[in-house]
Amino acid sequence: MSLHIGDTAPDFTAETSTGPISFHGWIGTDWVFFFSHPGDFTPVCTTEIGRTAHLIDAFAARNVKPLGLSTDTVAEHLKWIKDVDETQHTTVTFPIVADPDCRVARLYDMIHDHESTTAAVRSVFIIDPKKTIRLTMTYPMNVGRNFAEILRVIDALQTDDAHGVATPANWTPGGAVIIPLSIKTDAAQKRFPNGWTETRPYLRFTVL
Ligand code: BEZ
Repeated sequence: MSLHIGDTAPDFTAETSTGPISFHGWIGTDWVFFFSHPGDFTPVCTTEIGRTAHLIDAFAARNVKPLGLSTDTVAEHLKWIKDVDETQHTTVTFPIVADPDCRVARLYDMIHDHESTTAAVRSVFIIDPKKTIRLTMTYPMNVGRNFAEILRVIDALQTDDAHGVATPANWTPGGAVIIPLSIKTDAAQKRFPNGWTETRPYLRFTVL
C-alpha cells in the first residue's frame, strides 16, 4: 500500500519490545516518529536506535513518541536492545515493533522488493495527533538517517501549524518564515503586525 502525505496512518495492532500496542490508541494526543530499519544486530541500525534513544528528551519536548520497526521478533529485539544500550551508551526506552511476518511493514510500504523481500528499508513517517501522515521519507538500507533533519522537520511542521506559515530552505527554529500566498495583504497585516520583507509579491518573509 502506498501512503501519501494527508492520508490517515493505517491503524494496526502489534507486539513490540515494550508490550503489545494498538497504534491509534498508543498515539493518543501525541505526534509520532515511526521509522523502520532493516534488521536487528546490524551496524547502521544500531547507531540509529542509539541516536533516537539519545534524543528521547528532544522528542518529548515536541510531544513526539518514537516507534521503531524491524521484521524481527520481540525476543531478538530485547537481546539487541541490550547491545544498543551497551555500545551506544544509552538506554532504549521507546518501543520497537516486532514484525517477523512483514504485516505492518507491508501495510506501510516499507518492504521494497528490489532491496529485500523480507527486510524493511529505512522509512520515516511523521504522524500528527489527528493520525494524519505529515511527512514520508525513504532511505536506502546502507545510509543512516540524519536525526537533526528529523527534529528540524518536526519543528517546521509544528511552527507552520501554529502560525499558518511556511518555512524556507534550510530553515531552523528562530529563522525567518514565509507568509504563504494564500494569505492576502490585508489578512497578513492583521496576522503579522511586525510586518514583513517583500522580496517579490510572492516572496514575503517575517520573523515570528
Ligand atoms: C545496517 O544496519 O548496517 C544495514 C542493514 C541492512 C543492510 C545494510 C546495512
